[in-house]
Amino acid sequence: MSKTLVTLHVNERAYEVAVRPQDTLALALRDGCGLTGTKVGCDLGTCGCCTVLVDGRPVLGCLTLALEVEGRRIETIEGLAGAERLHPVQKAFAECGGSQCGYCTPGFVMTSVALLRTNGAPSRDEIKEAIAGNLCRCTGYAKIVDAVEQAATELRQAGNEASPTTDAHRSGGSNDARLQGRRQPATARR
Ligand code: FES
Ligand code: FES
Repeated sequence: MSKTLVTLHVNERAYEVAVRPQDTLALALRDGCGLTGTKVGCDLGTCGCCTVLVDGRPVLGCLTLALEVEGRRIETIEGLAGAERLHPVQKAFAECGGSQCGYCTPGFVMTSVALLRTNGAPSRDEIKEAIAGNLCRCTGYAKIVDAVEQAATELRQAGNEASPTTDAHRSGGSNDARLQGRRQPATARR
């Protein structure tokens, strides 16, 4: 099938990528843009490994077509860290043991960043709800929740990234495309 040239705006940079109609955003990011930090696990919308942000909201890269997001603002794990330091969420995952094999970590980090931008002081239950669509086979989740709590505290102290929770933000987040087809939280996590 013929390919179409699209411009993807990723981490504040424009990438021209040739895609087929069926190519996913995850594929375009990895193979077209060379941004391999976004992982593909199930490729079915159930594990959350491929989570990236589109216009600030978490979406599953494996269920989103590259053609759908032309002109939208895309953020991946590569866009978070500065040249000299990790993003506070990445740092907290490292310090709290929230990342072991690391395969799920980019997805968890992007989900957590989106949460903390709209809710600067989430409860543990709110964190669990936010990450419910992300699966991890290593950590048992408690350390991931610890990491998000620690990052929230650090961001509040730094006075950046996170902003006060608003109902609009909450309702917007619950309706995004990422929630469609995603796995419900396992009761064992709670
Ligand atoms: S790879 Fe996209 S949800 Fe698993
Ligand atoms: S750290 Fe290995 S799957 Fe999450």
